[in-house]
Amino acid sequence: VIRISLEVNGAACEGAVEPRMHLADFLRQQVGLTGTHLGCEQGVCGACTLLIDGQPMRSCLSYAVSCDGSRVQTIEGFDADALMAELREAFSVHHGLQCGFCTPAMLITARDIILRFGDADEAVIRRELSGNICRCTGYMGIVAAIRAVAKGRQPVSAGQPAPVVSKAAPLPKDKPTPVAAPKAVAMAAAPGGPELRQSITIAAPPADVWAALADITRVGGCLPGAVIDSVDGNDVRGHLTVKFGPIRARFAGEAKVERDETEMRGRIIGGGRDAHGGSSARGMVTYSLRPVESGMTAIDLAISYQLTGALAQFGRSELVADFAGRMATAFAQNLSAMLQGGGAAPAGTADINIVALGWSLLLARLRRLFGVQ
Ligand code: FES
Ligand code: FES
Repeated sequence: VIRISLEVNGAACEGAVEPRMHLADFLRQQVGLTGTHLGCEQGVCGACTLLIDGQPMRSCLSYAVSCDGSRVQTIEGFDADALMAELREAFSVHHGLQCGFCTPAMLITARDIILRFGDADEAVIRRELSGNICRCTGYMGIVAAIRAVAKGRQPVSAGQPAPVVSKAAPLPKDKPTPVAAPKAVAMAAAPGGPELRQSITIAAPPADVWAALADITRVGGCLPGAVIDSVDGNDVRGHLTVKFGPIRARFAGEAKVERDETEMRGRIIGGGRDAHGGSSARGMVTYSLRPVESGMTAIDLAISYQLTGALAQFGRSELVADFAGRMATAFAQNLSAMLQGGGAAPAGTADINIVALGWSLLLARLRRLFGVQ
């Protein structure tokens, strides 16, 4: 059991949690805030969406321990929020709810859409709402309600924290003990997030691969969608364009590269932000080289990451693992081609179709179920 301190709806609270407890269970079971609903508990339905440090997040995918020091806002924390009051009224007027199960998360997402896009049109609203499922309404009323409130508004610049509520929802009695002040600790960066491990094989000996990896600009070009803008010693700046179905994100960011020449291993730590959509990603990649048969090289990769914003809805480990697997395969092919031909690696967008990903995962599960290879 681990003790955590965080701010919930403007009030400091502490709790003792198992490492595997997700934030939604912590809020519902220990803090007594049951407005955060749980539907699928695997990042698909969006019913558990709330704000962590001002960003919409899936609380079923966020471990409570990783929110230590964070600022959490649930639907109960918007009582004094004028924009939320307008949205509640509009949902009622436009029949944006029936059973109400999806409604807390819908309202939080709707508020985030209006803050980021201002006067959003129907296409933008539908696209941005695609991570929140409603089984009752058919979405017409929800979209109409958001459109009505969005009309004539200006966006609040991307990444700016959501306005702070002036009145905190009180914490229930006999629940986690409030403390004097919240710890001003940012959410843990990549370490502490999910971790993927995989190996790729390059058709060249280790010495050649190691030498090639030192040329960050060329190697960066082997990653689909990536462009290196500048290299200053160990500091690299660049951008990465990714497309997840309807969501297109262009992450601009920076990273630090460390290399251990004797052990032929290295580490890249960095992060980036999609200025348009407000998603952000932080990650750490460690890699090491080892020889394999016939003069080939295996690169063993460990990738840990955290996603926030709209792209966090695709943070399910299987989807991210599939995405990372495809990126790694393309990277290995491009790097091998570069080493063999010496030419520039092909550029392009990492255009990963989420529907195709869904099918590939479904087929993989069916194969496992029926023992088919
Ligand atoms: S409960 Fe469905 S996304 Fe979290
Ligand atoms: S109103 Fe019932 S799930 Fe949306």
